[in-house]
Amino acid sequence: MATPAVQSTSTTASRGEGPSLTPSASLSPEQIRQRVGECGLDPDDLGWRWDLGGVSQPAAIPDFLQDDVWRRSRIDGGFDDSHDAACAQVADQVRRDPALVRLLWQAYWRTYLSPERRRLQGWPTLEPLLGDRAGFFYYLVALAGIPLTQAHHRRLGIPAAVTASTVQQARVESVPYYSGAHNGRFGVDFPQLEWLSHYTRERYFRLGRLEFWLEPNQACPARVYRHRATGQVVALAPDGMMFADDGAVYADPSERRPGSGWTASFQADQDAWCGNVITPFGQGTRWRPRLAKAVWQEVLRPGDLCLTLHIPNGGGLTPAACRDSILRALDFFPRHFPDSLPRGLVSISWLFNNQLRQALPADTNIVHFLNQFYSVPRPSGRWDGLWFLFLRKGAPDFDAWPRDTTPQRQILDFLRQHPRWRESAMFLLWEDMLHYGEKVYLQDWPYPELGAAGTT
Ligand SMILES: CC(C)(COP(=O)(O)OP(=O)(O)OC[C@H]1O[C@@H](n2cnc3c(N)ncnc32)[C@H](O)[C@@H]1OP(=O)(O)O)[C@@H](O)C(=O)NCCC(=O)NCCS
Repeated sequence: MATPAVQSTSTTASRGEGPSLTPSASLSPEQIRQRVGECGLDPDDLGWRWDLGGVSQPAAIPDFLQDDVWRRSRIDGGFDDSHDAACAQVADQVRRDPALVRLLWQAYWRTYLSPERRRLQGWPTLEPLLGDRAGFFYYLVALAGIPLTQAHHRRLGIPAAVTASTVQQARVESVPYYSGAHNGRFGVDFPQLEWLSHYTRERYFRLGRLEFWLEPNQACPARVYRHRATGQVVALAPDGMMFADDGAVYADPSERRPGSGWTASFQADQDAWCGNVITPFGQGTRWRPRLAKAVWQEVLRPGDLCLTLHIPNGGGLTPAACRDSILRALDFFPRHFPDSLPRGLVSISWLFNNQLRQALPADTNIVHFLNQFYSVPRPSGRWDGLWFLFLRKGAPDFDAWPRDTTPQRQILDFLRQHPRWRESAMFLLWEDMLHYGEKVYLQDWPYPELGAAGTT
């Protein structure tokens, strides 16, 4: 392992009594780059708000680099102690190296403190300097978010059990790093920090198997209407959304055959809304009913306060576990945020992709889960979402991608026959969450109340 080239004025690292590290705060991105020995980084990104981050860097070694502090967070985050010795060595190496302290501080500040958000891109991997232990550098940043999340929850009056469950996410995020992406080495990858940043300042909680983020709906682009008498629900495509003939939306327009497809149009007047129906199976249609306001009520649109649903890694997405989580959310959010009632659940994932019904058996947890939501197409790249199952990016390599688990094998086999995958959006309205498990949107589709399919 390389020895530090930039020595601190002292190696004392006790909290509060450490040396002044002002020289560390004044190091430039260029000096850091030279120190870590990595070229080809994104110069604009590493330098983004560099000075602003430096201003708030403490003169002493930051608390979260102290062994007792990161160890406490490691325990709270549910990690076992098998990597403590290696982590302690990396923490010590960082404490002795002003350039690494500066870089670590900037990663921490960018992730958790910066008023403006921007994900870390093209940051050093630290592999030239830390070798096999490189993943511990950003692992320390991930652990540092745990006390911030705990403090944030205390301010919001969140029960300790919910906090304890929510802070497990650092461990969940680190799993892909060592299970595949980095040849089994332990750690956290810098792109994973973006997700962890949300827990420290958003209304974002794990309730049982699932996580819920109270925020304006940015996931589901559709406008959604409920029939005032029957309660049935229909989604209309946003104006201008371009569909292929198969009712899907492609991020890359060149994937649509020239001259094929169609563009959705949406109009509202005093008496009605008129737009292209999206089926609950996630397909756009040319069918444009007119929904009279006297008969239908608008119940969801982009920007409405919602719960964005997140499905943490970990299997066990059983019908019972999901129903339990969703019922907990129905109780938790009105109790803790009575002035911010959400309209329902929304999300974007490969798990709402209609193709899963063909790729997997109907009795799997994944297909049961998919069936509980109203799927909505969104612009999707050709291989979007496969990463979550294979920890690989880009087009599937049928000879090299893992076939270790049943869904991996089933989806690879499907992709050989249908070489086009996608992610989709979804919603489940607040009133319908109580009926999770009953396939509320699929049961009676298509509704006679909408009129004959194909009429405009
Ligand atoms: C989606 C997910 C929760 C589904 O879990 P599930 O179907 O309930 O999983 P189960 O525990 O019933 O296991 C069923 C099979 O899936 C496999 N499996 C579970 N999680 C997996 C994962 N992350 N990657 C690959 N295979 C997985 C299991 O090993 C098992 O395979 P086997 O039959 O060969 O033993 C799971 O795939 C997962 O954790 N994915 C990562 C998280 C994710 O994709 N989130 C959405 C992000 S947008």
